[in-house]
Amino acid sequence: MDFRFQAIAAGGACKQDADALLVLMVGDAALPAADAALKAALDAAVSRGDFSSKPGRCLGLHAVPGMKAPRLVLAAARAGQRGIKAGLASALGAIKSLGVTRLAVWVVGAPTDAALAETITSAVGDAVYLYTHTKPSAGEPSRLAKVVLLGDKSCGAVAEVGLKRGAAVLIGTNLARELANRPGNHCTPTDLADEVRKLGRGSGLKVDVLERKDCEKLGMGSFLSVSRGSHEPPKFIVARWQGAGKGDAPVVLVGKGITFDTGGISLKPAAEMDEMKYDMGGAASVIGTLAAVAAMKARVNLVALIPTCENMPGGAATKPGDVVTSLSGQTIEILNTDAEGRLILCDALTYAERFKPAAVVDIATLTGACVVALGHVRSGLFTPDDQLADQLLAAGEAALDPAWRMPVDDEYDDALKSNFADMANVGPRSGGAITAAMFLKRFAGKFRWAHLDVAGTAWKSGAAKGGTGRPVGLLTHFVLAQAKD
Ligand code: BES
Ligand code: MN
Ligand code: ZN
Repeated sequence: MDFRFQAIAAGGACKQDADALLVLMVGDAALPAADAALKAALDAAVSRGDFSSKPGRCLGLHAVPGMKAPRLVLAAARAGQRGIKAGLASALGAIKSLGVTRLAVWVVGAPTDAALAETITSAVGDAVYLYTHTKPSAGEPSRLAKVVLLGDKSCGAVAEVGLKRGAAVLIGTNLARELANRPGNHCTPTDLADEVRKLGRGSGLKVDVLERKDCEKLGMGSFLSVSRGSHEPPKFIVARWQGAGKGDAPVVLVGKGITFDTGGISLKPAAEMDEMKYDMGGAASVIGTLAAVAAMKARVNLVALIPTCENMPGGAATKPGDVVTSLSGQTIEILNTDAEGRLILCDALTYAERFKPAAVVDIATLTGACVVALGHVRSGLFTPDDQLADQLLAAGEAALDPAWRMPVDDEYDDALKSNFADMANVGPRSGGAITAAMFLKRFAGKFRWAHLDVAGTAWKSGAAKGGTGRPVGLLTHFVLAQAKD
């Protein structure tokens, strides 16, 4: 998707040459008098009761006298970026299936700044995404190819910054969404490794994939314990983007890559188990962020670590009560094989030490308890580091991909006590999302660390079931904020 800014003078929207002009009226904004043709069309629509400033209202008009673009779409939105995004979504829903290739967007009543530009790219990304990998009949891809944001010349520089970043986030978000949507038999650990290699070839990432025997040699006993019940070989993916100097400490992102979570011997109930194909949503968001950062050629060093395997029952599967030795040397009593995410992440966190990271952020669809706590709006953020928390929260707000900080007080760690190992992998039901974070914290003592639980935000259930691509926006903003520029 090609995004551009174009400066217009007073009355310029009417002269805009595009297949369609989308005019988004924010709050109770009024059109400038100079846009006479547009104003006449709007006033007529309002007086006939076909349009109003009520958020979500949307009206398509054809061949409006005095307007160069053959299609005019009027839409109304609530003020604020979230309101604007919702308004754009309803208008783009109507436009995406038309024969529109070049779309001009004019937002009246909100500043044309970087945030607005990114809101537009994000809404366009949502509108044009179509899952076809295992459903070629899903429909024709949208013909939309070029979006021009109109605004005053003085806004051009900031708008272009937002459009560039937003275009990169769009690529990453839709890649993450696509990977999460692919069923377990079309997105195995091997497939995931191949996807990262493919991405690497196109964008100058360095990609290494550790096989089972490599992980055995290293001593990743915790990671490997999860894959024992599966016939699919586990992979430990290491991808590096070197955009800054060799000596610059990298940001390390660790993504949970369970390509299917049956629960293992602690088997999950059948209802909605299909949704556990998105238990690699953390990994998908890390891959998406790599794609976004590489697309921007950001001057930052980024390392992605993705432990990926299936969690299956089977004759060789880990049993409740089994004790394994992690890469850190700490032993773990596996009381519940369904708490497998922390078991693969802990070895990846230990592996991260070798990069002498500036910060490590792990991203995981880790607990149902986090969904109970925060629902589907905000991701759970866990870190003892106030500065890192502030940076990640700010990145989430800026990207309309918000998180909410949760506690990690030492007292919560008591839940992990075990009589037979250094720790158990689960505690009592209460505070389950925090217990999971406390488990990871035991492996994150040597660097600045944060954990994002995206069990509620990486996926939508219901009629619009599917991956959301979150938290690629948050992560990309965070990583770019660490760049040199
Ligand atoms: N992948 C699940 C968490 C999950 C649940 C993600 C619902 C998305 C939606 C994770 O591996 C898991 O099974 N966690 C258990 C932990 C429990 C056994 C302590 C859970 O949340 O029930
Ligand atoms: Mn599980
Ligand atoms: Zn899981």
